[in-house]
Amino acid sequence: MSRQPVFLSDGVVAGLLRYEELIPRLEEALGKFSLRRSSELLQPVRSVMPLQNHSGFLGLMPSYMPNEGILCTKMLTFYRREAGSSLPSTQASVLLFDPEYGNVTAVMDGLDITHKRTAAVSAISAKLLKPAQLDILCILGSGHQALSHYEVFTLLFSFKEVRVWSRRMESATRFAASVKGPVTVCSSVKEAVNGADIIITVTSSSEPV
Ligand SMILES: NC(=O)c1ccc[n+]([C@@H]2O[C@H](COP(=O)([O-])OP(=O)(O)OC[C@H]3O[C@@H](n4cnc5c(N)ncnc54)[C@H](OP(=O)(O)O)[C@@H]3O)[C@@H](O)[C@H]2O)c1
Repeated sequence: MSRQPVFLSDGVVAGLLRYEELIPRLEEALGKFSLRRSSELLQPVRSVMPLQNHSGFLGLMPSYMPNEGILCTKMLTFYRREAGSSLPSTQASVLLFDPEYGNVTAVMDGLDITHKRTAAVSAISAKLLKPAQLDILCILGSGHQALSHYEVFTLLFSFKEVRVWSRRMESATRFAASVKGPVTVCSSVKEAVNGADIIITVTSSSEPV
């Protein structure tokens, strides 16, 4: 109980967190959440506080699995950034507690956890809801979530074509050049979504694109 918390930096977390292990654990947790048994999992709706001087928000996202002795919370800040801003839109930390004593046992950079968890949950939904034919993947947006969604969707499924559209063509082109497989860069949303079997929407837009 008296031990200092360990600190896991973004690089360490990114090296440890693998979709192959994350997806089954998340599937299990989502199942427990759906059962709504407080002995299994408690996860209240995240509380969000506006940072009105900075077009941003602070979000607190606690979770407790009593039977497994897991108590943690993610703390997240997110901001509306100007187009072309080099500042991150999202930053996050995850705190792990000892549920018996209440002390913090680990402080983890939460950005890779955010990227991979969000994408993995989308992929789990797609696995359960996907159409019989799965040829074309369309991604609207080209930021961090676009990348993590690309990674997990191409890991789980085999697509004949992957398309990307982004508000700025150069972002879409950069995205296409940064991933391993071939990606078609589309110049309009209509071109990107037409005939697609799965459409992933990962822009920061508050308006429909
Ligand atoms: N549900 C969750 O758990 C969860 C977790 C993390 C993130 N998110 C959400 O996922 C979205 C993307 O996050 P991210 O981390 O990938 O952000 P990011 O790396 O900053 O990328 C933002 C993307 O949104 C595009 N974009 C920004 N403003 C736009 C606008 N007004 N119209 C059209 N496109 C716009 C950008 O396009 P250009 O580069 O072409 O300008 C870029 O592709 C955000 O809405 C975020 O809140 C959800």
